[in-house]
Amino acid sequence: MLIKKPRSWELPESAVTSESRYRNRREIVKGLGLGIAAASLPGFGTGLSVGQALAAVADPTAHLYPVDRNNGFEGGRDITPEKLTSRYNNFYEFGSHKEIALAAQKLEIRPWTIEIDGLVEKKFTIGIDELIKKMPLEERIYRHRCVEAWSMVVPWSGFPLAELIDFAEPLSSAKYVVMETFMDPEVAPGQKQFWYPWPYSEGLTLKEATNDLAFMVTGVYGKPLAKQFGSPLRLAVPWKYGYKSIKSIVRFKFVSRRPKSFWEEINQREYGFWANVNPEVDHPRWSQARERDLATGRKIPTLLFNGYGDEVADLYEDIKGEKLYR
Ligand code: MTE
Repeated sequence: MLIKKPRSWELPESAVTSESRYRNRREIVKGLGLGIAAASLPGFGTGLSVGQALAAVADPTAHLYPVDRNNGFEGGRDITPEKLTSRYNNFYEFGSHKEIALAAQKLEIRPWTIEIDGLVEKKFTIGIDELIKKMPLEERIYRHRCVEAWSMVVPWSGFPLAELIDFAEPLSSAKYVVMETFMDPEVAPGQKQFWYPWPYSEGLTLKEATNDLAFMVTGVYGKPLAKQFGSPLRLAVPWKYGYKSIKSIVRFKFVSRRPKSFWEEINQREYGFWANVNPEVDHPRWSQARERDLATGRKIPTLLFNGYGDEVADLYEDIKGEKLYR
C-alpha cells in the first residue's frame, strides 16, 4: 500500500519517516514489476528463522488441521510456496514494509475475544476457540491480488463469512458489516504512527459478506494461521484488492450506513470502499492491467474480479454511479 501524503490534520509530509518513504518507493518499483525475481524478495538471505519462531508457539487449534479441501475453489495456477508468502506480508501494525513476519510473532493470540455488536438481535462476545468449534472448517485455494499489483495463490482454511453473519443475527436494518483489527501499540509499534486512523477497519455490504466466496480464515497451508497472515482470524475476499482482507479481527459491527475504512480514510482518491479488481481501471499512479506473480516473478494479466466474475458480478449489477473498481 502506498500513501502519498498524510491527511491535512496529520503530520506534514516532511515529518513522515524517511524510511517509510524509502520503502514506499521500493514498493512502487516492485509493484510495477521492475526487475523483481522471487529469489530477491525482501527477507531472503537475512537468516530470519520464521519457521522456528512459529514452531515455538503452541496453538490450541493445531489438532484441527489439515481440514478437508473444498475442490470447488481452485487457484488456477500452482499454490505459491509458503516460504514466499510467509515472508512477504502487508501488516502495517508491524511496519510499513513487507518483512514484518518476525515482529508479528509478538502478537498474543490467546485469549482472543471477538465482539459482535451494532444492529444485532443481541450483542455478545465469543472466544476464538469457541467460535471455531461452531463453524464448519474447510480448505479453499484462493488467488489473492494486492492493489500494489502482485499476487499469490494460497490454501486458506476457515469457514464462510455467511456462517458467522448467520450466527450474529443482524437486524433487518443492518446493511453493512464493519470489521476491526486489534489495537495494542505496545505489541504493534505501527499503531504508534498516529497519522494512520487505527485500528485498521474494513467493511462489506451484507450482500457481499454473505456471498459464498467471502471466507473467514483461521488456517493456511494445512496449519493454524501464522501470525503474519493475521491470526487468529482474518478475512479473504479474493475478488477484491487485498487491502479489503482485514487481519486479526476482534470486532464485527453491523451498521445501516456505509462505513469508511482504513485506506479510504487515508486517501479516498486512491483507495475506495468497493475495491473490486479490474484490469481496465488503473490506480491513479500505476496500471492494474497486469500483476507480478510472487512465485515466478512473471507479470501475468489481471482478470476482472480477479477471475471470480461468475460468482460475484451479479452483486454489482444494480449499483449505478459508484466507483466499484477502486
Ligand atoms: N489487515 C491489517 N489489519 N493490516 C494491514 O496492514 N494489509 C492488507 C490486508 N489486511 C493489512 C490487512 C493488505 S494491503 C494486503 S495485500 C493483505 O492484508 C496482505 O495479506 P498477506 O500479508 O497475507 O499477503
